[in-house]
Amino acid sequence: MADERLISSSMHEDDAKNEYSLRPHFLGEYIGQDVVKEHMQIYIEAAKNRGESLDHALLYGPPGLGKTTLAGIIANEMGVSLRVTSGPAISHAGDLAALLTNVSPGDVLFIDEIHRLNASVEEVLYPAMEDYALDIIIGKGPSARSIRLDLPKFTLIGATTRMGMLSSPLRDRFGIKEQLDLYSAEALKEIIIRSADILHIEIDEEGALEIASRSRGTPRIANRLLRRVRDFSQVKRRGIIDLETAQSALEMLAIDELGLDAVDLKMLYAMIDIFKGGPVGLDTIAAYTGEDAGTVEDVYEPYLLKLGFIARTSRGRIVLPPAYEHLDLPVPVQQGQQLKLEV
Ligand code: ADE
Repeated sequence: MADERLISSSMHEDDAKNEYSLRPHFLGEYIGQDVVKEHMQIYIEAAKNRGESLDHALLYGPPGLGKTTLAGIIANEMGVSLRVTSGPAISHAGDLAALLTNVSPGDVLFIDEIHRLNASVEEVLYPAMEDYALDIIIGKGPSARSIRLDLPKFTLIGATTRMGMLSSPLRDRFGIKEQLDLYSAEALKEIIIRSADILHIEIDEEGALEIASRSRGTPRIANRLLRRVRDFSQVKRRGIIDLETAQSALEMLAIDELGLDAVDLKMLYAMIDIFKGGPVGLDTIAAYTGEDAGTVEDVYEPYLLKLGFIARTSRGRIVLPPAYEHLDLPVPVQQGQQLKLEV
């Protein structure tokens, strides 16, 4: 389903062109994800010192956190070219062969949504990753034979929101695996100030922190909200984003103080009112919100989990006390059991 809600973390059309200009190009400009940055700095420096290509790397985590950006940074830091594609775009083994035969030594091939590669393409990828070789079958039937083509030593960077959907042979062929986490409000504030500077938007620290706090830990959402608040401030205020302007603009956009919108609220109210706080299965939640289960799991849940509003249990999702408090509802005494309300 096309996801056009203002606070979704999936890519909108206008994000694609705007994100490009806001993207940091080197590790030194990349804000947040300190652990991943530190690791990558070491791996890159070591590979460069040895004069080798970087090991294949798998980046995983919720959408909108900068996996593509990081792949671009890695290519820049290594001083090589970046080629970008995605799992669904490589439908045949031949598509992958065409990509691989066009890379130069050391180049980075970035495959987004790598969990969506089909099995026949994965088969071609294994020897390419492991031995830098392409096995091509020539002819059909009994006379068919296989020839092996050498490839330059390239680096594959795979990105996925779904580590669990990756086959284990594919997962095992990545020497580097890094998990990206949702950003803190402080880190998002810095990203917003940096973006505002690039876009010539006047904003103060409090205004930036207000937008950051409502951006669900996600830079893509932070940058999108910054542009919408700029529109509001230009038309309704003096063109400078301060706390009051940010609050009024975000209120107009129906995004609450924590960044929750109508879809999150629908999800929480369904779990509370209809399913008495849970446990509720993922498919049931998806049906009630009109989204598919994968989208609920990738896009909506990570932030609600981070807020401590819901938890996953073996029997389904349950609502936790902070969610009731945020919604001004009485907190049930016991979770996931017969619900008794506190008096
Ligand atoms: N823009 C989007 N993500 C960013 C990040 N992590 N650091 C700096 N600018 C960004």
